[in-house]
Amino acid sequence: MTINASPLIEFDRVVAGYTHLTILNELSFTARKGEITLLIGPNGAGKSTVLKTLFGMLTPRAGEVRMNGKVINGKTPRDLLAEGIAFVPQGRNLFGSLSVLHNLELGAFHLSSPIRNGRIAEVLERFPRLKERIDSRAASLSGGEQKQLEIGRALLVHPEVLLIDEPSIGLAPIIVQEVMQLLRGLAASGKSVVMVEQNVRTALKYADRALALEMGQLALDKPANELLNDPNLNRLFLGGQITK
Ligand SMILES: Nc1ncnc2c1ncn2[C@@H]1O[C@H](COP(=O)(O)OP(=O)(O)OP(=O)(O)O)[C@@H](O)[C@H]1O
Ligand SMILES: [Mg+2]
Repeated sequence: MTINASPLIEFDRVVAGYTHLTILNELSFTARKGEITLLIGPNGAGKSTVLKTLFGMLTPRAGEVRMNGKVINGKTPRDLLAEGIAFVPQGRNLFGSLSVLHNLELGAFHLSSPIRNGRIAEVLERFPRLKERIDSRAASLSGGEQKQLEIGRALLVHPEVLLIDEPSIGLAPIIVQEVMQLLRGLAASGKSVVMVEQNVRTALKYADRALALEMGQLALDKPANELLNDPNLNRLFLGGQITK
Protein backbone atom coordinates (compact mmCIF):
# COMPACT_ATOMS: atom_id res chain seq x y z
CA MET A 1 0.00 0.00 0.00
CA THR A 2 1.19 3.48 -0.82
CA ILE A 3 1.26 5.79 2.13
CA ASN A 4 0.53 9.47 1.52
CA ALA A 5 -0.03 8.80 -2.17
CA SER A 6 -1.15 11.97 -3.91
CA PRO A 7 -4.68 12.42 -5.22
CA LEU A 8 -5.12 11.26 -8.77
CA ILE A 9 -8.87 11.41 -9.21
CA GLU A 10 -11.08 13.77 -7.27
CA PHE A 11 -14.86 13.98 -7.30
CA ASP A 12 -15.91 17.27 -5.79
CA ARG A 13 -19.65 17.52 -5.05
CA VAL A 14 -20.49 15.79 -8.32
CA VAL A 15 -24.13 15.61 -9.37
CA ALA A 16 -24.83 13.23 -12.26
CA GLY A 17 -27.52 10.89 -13.51
CA TYR A 18 -29.78 9.95 -16.36
CA THR A 19 -32.29 12.43 -17.83
CA HIS A 20 -34.47 13.46 -14.85
CA LEU A 21 -32.90 10.94 -12.51
CA THR A 22 -30.16 12.19 -10.19
CA ILE A 23 -27.94 9.31 -9.10
CA LEU A 24 -24.73 10.88 -7.80
CA ASN A 25 -25.84 13.33 -5.21
CA GLU A 26 -23.04 15.82 -4.51
CA LEU A 27 -20.60 12.94 -4.35
CA SER A 28 -17.06 13.72 -3.18
CA PHE A 29 -14.17 11.27 -2.93
CA THR A 30 -10.51 10.88 -3.81
CA ALA A 31 -8.66 7.98 -5.46
CA ARG A 32 -4.89 7.97 -5.03
CA LYS A 33 -2.01 7.22 -7.35
CA GLY A 34 -0.65 3.69 -7.45
CA GLU A 35 -3.55 2.35 -5.42
CA ILE A 36 -6.50 0.07 -6.02
CA THR A 37 -9.57 2.02 -4.97
CA LEU A 38 -12.53 -0.27 -4.46
CA LEU A 39 -16.09 1.02 -4.81
CA ILE A 40 -18.68 -1.01 -2.98
CA GLY A 41 -22.31 -0.53 -2.02
CA PRO A 42 -25.76 -1.94 -2.65
CA ASN A 43 -27.29 -2.46 -6.09
CA GLY A 44 -28.33 0.83 -7.59
CA ALA A 45 -26.09 2.89 -5.28
CA GLY A 46 -24.39 4.50 -8.27
CA LYS A 47 -21.09 2.59 -8.51
CA SER A 48 -21.21 2.03 -12.26
CA THR A 49 -22.46 5.59 -12.67
CA VAL A 50 -19.24 6.81 -11.01
CA LEU A 51 -17.15 4.90 -13.58
CA LYS A 52 -19.29 6.15 -16.48
CA THR A 53 -18.92 9.70 -15.24
CA LEU A 54 -15.17 9.28 -14.88
CA PHE A 55 -14.94 7.99 -18.42
CA GLY A 56 -16.98 10.85 -19.86
CA MET A 57 -20.01 8.77 -20.76
CA LEU A 58 -22.08 11.02 -18.46
CA THR A 59 -21.52 14.72 -17.95
CA PRO A 60 -21.88 15.99 -14.38
CA ARG A 61 -24.65 18.53 -13.90
CA ALA A 62 -22.72 20.16 -11.11
CA GLY A 63 -19.45 19.76 -9.28
CA GLU A 64 -16.02 18.90 -10.63
CA VAL A 65 -14.17 15.77 -11.61
CA ARG A 66 -10.41 16.32 -11.53
CA MET A 67 -7.48 14.21 -12.60
CA ASN A 68 -4.06 15.29 -11.36
CA GLY A 69 -5.68 18.57 -10.30
CA LYS A 70 -7.07 19.31 -13.76
CA VAL A 71 -10.82 19.49 -14.37
CA ILE A 72 -11.91 16.73 -16.74
CA ASN A 73 -15.70 16.95 -16.71
CA GLY A 74 -17.23 17.52 -20.09
CA LYS A 75 -14.48 15.61 -21.88
CA THR A 76 -15.42 12.75 -24.18
CA PRO A 77 -14.27 9.16 -23.66
CA ARG A 78 -11.89 9.66 -26.57
CA ASP A 79 -10.33 12.72 -24.88
CA LEU A 80 -10.08 10.82 -21.63
CA LEU A 81 -8.34 7.87 -23.25
CA ALA A 82 -5.76 10.37 -24.44
CA GLU A 83 -5.56 11.75 -20.88
CA GLY A 84 -4.71 8.25 -19.67
CA ILE A 85 -8.02 6.76 -18.51
CA ALA A 86 -9.10 3.34 -19.77
CA PHE A 87 -12.38 1.58 -18.98
CA VAL A 88 -13.25 -2.10 -18.82
CA PRO A 89 -17.05 -2.16 -18.41
CA GLN A 90 -19.05 -4.89 -16.73
CA GLY A 91 -19.76 -8.05 -18.74
CA ARG A 92 -18.23 -9.30 -21.94
CA ASN A 93 -16.83 -6.57 -24.14
CA LEU A 94 -15.11 -8.49 -26.91
CA PHE A 95 -15.83 -9.14 -30.56
CA GLY A 96 -16.44 -12.85 -30.07
CA SER A 97 -16.13 -13.91 -33.68
CA LEU A 98 -12.84 -12.05 -34.18
CA SER A 99 -9.43 -13.39 -33.18
CA VAL A 100 -7.51 -12.39 -30.08
CA LEU A 101 -5.11 -10.43 -32.29
CA HIS A 102 -7.92 -8.66 -34.11
CA ASN A 103 -9.54 -7.66 -30.80
CA LEU A 104 -6.22 -6.20 -29.67
CA GLU A 105 -5.73 -4.36 -32.96
CA LEU A 106 -9.15 -2.75 -32.58
CA GLY A 107 -8.13 -1.44 -29.16
CA ALA A 108 -5.20 0.42 -30.69
CA PHE A 109 -6.58 1.39 -34.10
CA HIS A 110 -5.77 5.06 -33.48
CA LEU A 111 -2.05 4.39 -33.05
CA SER A 112 0.42 4.21 -35.93
CA SER A 113 1.14 0.63 -36.92
CA PRO A 114 4.72 0.40 -35.51
CA ILE A 115 3.52 1.73 -32.15
CA ARG A 116 0.44 -0.47 -32.25
CA ASN A 117 2.50 -3.58 -32.97
CA GLY A 118 4.94 -2.71 -30.18
CA ARG A 119 2.11 -2.23 -27.69
CA ILE A 120 0.45 -5.49 -28.73
CA ALA A 121 3.77 -7.32 -28.30
CA GLU A 122 4.04 -5.84 -24.78
CA VAL A 123 0.56 -7.05 -23.86
CA LEU A 124 1.29 -10.54 -25.23
CA GLU A 125 4.46 -10.58 -23.14
CA ARG A 126 2.41 -9.85 -20.05
CA PHE A 127 -0.28 -12.43 -20.92
CA PRO A 128 1.40 -15.58 -22.27
CA ARG A 129 -1.96 -17.36 -22.48
CA LEU A 130 -3.21 -14.76 -24.97
CA LYS A 131 -0.05 -15.21 -27.00
CA GLU A 132 -0.76 -18.94 -27.23
CA ARG A 133 -4.33 -18.25 -28.36
CA ILE A 134 -3.51 -15.31 -30.63
CA ASP A 135 -5.38 -16.71 -33.65
CA SER A 136 -8.33 -18.16 -31.72
CA ARG A 137 -11.74 -16.55 -31.78
CA ALA A 138 -12.27 -14.47 -28.65
CA ALA A 139 -15.52 -16.33 -27.94
CA SER A 140 -13.59 -19.60 -27.66
CA LEU A 141 -11.44 -18.33 -24.75
CA SER A 142 -12.29 -19.19 -21.15
CA GLY A 143 -13.96 -16.50 -19.04
CA GLY A 144 -10.68 -15.67 -17.31
CA GLU A 145 -8.81 -15.44 -20.62
CA GLN A 146 -11.51 -13.15 -22.00
CA LYS A 147 -11.13 -10.87 -18.99
CA GLN A 148 -7.35 -10.89 -19.56
CA LEU A 149 -7.95 -9.91 -23.15
CA GLU A 150 -10.23 -7.04 -22.12
CA ILE A 151 -7.69 -5.79 -19.60
CA GLY A 152 -4.84 -6.29 -22.08
CA ARG A 153 -6.72 -4.31 -24.70
CA ALA A 154 -7.27 -1.49 -22.19
CA LEU A 155 -3.54 -1.46 -21.40
CA LEU A 156 -2.63 -0.82 -25.05
CA VAL A 157 -3.17 2.89 -24.53
CA HIS A 158 -0.72 2.91 -21.58
CA PRO A 159 -3.35 4.26 -19.22
CA GLU A 160 -2.46 5.97 -15.98
CA VAL A 161 -5.73 4.81 -14.49
CA LEU A 162 -7.75 1.72 -15.24
CA LEU A 163 -11.48 1.72 -14.45
CA ILE A 164 -12.94 -1.75 -14.12
CA ASP A 165 -16.54 -2.68 -13.35
CA GLU A 166 -17.23 -6.01 -11.63
CA PRO A 167 -14.40 -8.04 -13.17
CA SER A 168 -15.26 -11.15 -11.12
CA ILE A 169 -18.70 -11.74 -12.65
CA GLY A 170 -18.95 -15.18 -14.20
CA LEU A 171 -15.44 -16.26 -13.19
CA ALA A 172 -14.48 -19.21 -11.00
CA PRO A 173 -13.03 -18.16 -7.61
CA ILE A 174 -9.49 -19.20 -8.54
CA ILE A 175 -9.66 -17.12 -11.72
CA VAL A 176 -11.01 -14.17 -9.75
CA GLN A 177 -7.86 -14.37 -7.60
CA GLU A 178 -5.73 -14.30 -10.77
CA VAL A 179 -7.54 -11.24 -12.09
CA MET A 180 -7.16 -9.49 -8.71
CA GLN A 181 -3.45 -10.35 -8.64
CA LEU A 182 -3.11 -8.92 -12.11
CA LEU A 183 -4.72 -5.66 -10.95
CA ARG A 184 -2.46 -5.67 -7.88
CA GLY A 185 0.55 -6.02 -10.20
CA LEU A 186 -0.63 -3.05 -12.27
CA ALA A 187 -0.91 -0.93 -9.12
CA ALA A 188 2.57 -2.06 -8.05
CA SER A 189 3.88 -0.85 -11.41
CA GLY A 190 2.47 2.62 -10.66
CA LYS A 191 -0.87 2.47 -12.42
CA SER A 192 -4.01 3.31 -10.51
CA VAL A 193 -7.08 1.15 -10.52
CA VAL A 194 -10.64 2.14 -9.68
CA MET A 195 -12.64 -1.06 -9.32
CA VAL A 196 -16.29 -1.79 -8.63
CA GLU A 197 -16.84 -5.23 -7.10
CA GLN A 198 -19.76 -7.02 -5.43
CA ASN A 199 -17.40 -9.78 -4.40
CA VAL A 200 -16.49 -7.56 -1.48
CA ARG A 201 -14.48 -9.85 0.77
CA THR A 202 -12.17 -11.04 -2.01
CA ALA A 203 -11.75 -7.56 -3.50
CA LEU A 204 -10.88 -6.06 -0.10
CA LYS A 205 -7.93 -8.46 0.15
CA TYR A 206 -6.40 -6.87 -2.93
CA ALA A 207 -7.53 -3.26 -2.66
CA ASP A 208 -5.80 -0.41 -0.84
CA ARG A 209 -8.81 1.68 -0.08
CA ALA A 210 -12.52 1.00 0.14
CA LEU A 211 -15.19 3.56 -0.61
CA ALA A 212 -18.79 2.66 0.09
CA LEU A 213 -21.54 4.41 -1.80
CA GLU A 214 -25.07 4.70 -0.59
CA MET A 215 -27.75 6.57 -2.51
CA GLY A 216 -25.09 8.32 -4.59
CA GLN A 217 -23.14 9.60 -1.61
CA LEU A 218 -19.99 8.47 0.14
CA ALA A 219 -20.96 6.43 3.19
CA LEU A 220 -17.47 5.23 4.14
CA ASP A 221 -13.81 5.72 3.16
CA LYS A 222 -11.36 3.35 4.85
CA PRO A 223 -8.18 1.40 4.27
CA ALA A 224 -9.30 -1.90 2.73
CA ASN A 225 -7.56 -4.07 5.33
CA GLU A 226 -9.28 -2.20 8.15
CA LEU A 227 -12.68 -2.83 6.63
CA LEU A 228 -11.78 -6.46 5.92
CA ASN A 229 -11.04 -6.97 9.61
CA ASP A 230 -14.09 -5.07 10.78
CA PRO A 231 -16.38 -7.44 12.70
CA ASN A 232 -19.32 -5.46 11.35
CA LEU A 233 -18.38 -6.06 7.69
CA ASN A 234 -21.05 -8.71 7.16
CA ARG A 235 -23.75 -6.66 8.77
CA LEU A 236 -22.73 -3.45 7.01
CA PHE A 237 -22.11 -4.57 3.47
CA LEU A 238 -22.79 -8.20 2.95
CA GLY A 239 -26.19 -8.51 4.58
CA GLY A 240 -28.34 -10.63 2.38
CA GLN A 241 -26.51 -9.57 -0.74
CA ILE A 242 -23.31 -11.54 -0.75
CA THR A 243 -22.53 -14.56 1.36
CA LYS A 244 -18.86 -15.16 0.49
N1 LIG B 1 -28.87 4.29 -18.69
C1 LIG B 1 -29.64 4.49 -17.60
N2 LIG B 1 -30.81 5.17 -17.69
C2 LIG B 1 -31.60 5.38 -16.62
N3 LIG B 1 -31.29 4.95 -15.37
C3 LIG B 1 -30.16 4.26 -15.22
C4 LIG B 1 -29.27 3.99 -16.32
N4 LIG B 1 -28.21 3.29 -15.85
C5 LIG B 1 -28.43 3.13 -14.53
N5 LIG B 1 -29.58 3.72 -14.14
C6 LIG B 1 -30.12 3.77 -12.76
O1 LIG B 1 -29.20 4.48 -11.95
C7 LIG B 1 -29.13 3.89 -10.65
C8 LIG B 1 -27.67 3.61 -10.32
O2 LIG B 1 -27.19 2.67 -11.26
P1 LIG B 1 -25.72 2.12 -11.24
O3 LIG B 1 -25.63 1.22 -12.42
O4 LIG B 1 -24.74 3.20 -11.12
O5 LIG B 1 -25.72 1.30 -9.87
P2 LIG B 1 -24.65 0.28 -9.31
O6 LIG B 1 -24.27 0.74 -7.96
O7 LIG B 1 -23.58 0.05 -10.29
O8 LIG B 1 -25.57 -1.03 -9.15
P3 LIG B 1 -25.25 -2.57 -9.43
O9 LIG B 1 -24.59 -3.07 -8.19
O10 LIG B 1 -26.62 -3.16 -9.61
O11 LIG B 1 -24.40 -2.67 -10.65
C9 LIG B 1 -30.03 2.68 -10.69
O12 LIG B 1 -31.24 3.03 -10.08
C10 LIG B 1 -30.21 2.40 -12.15
O13 LIG B 1 -31.46 1.83 -12.40
MG1 LIG C 1 -23.03 -1.53 -11.49
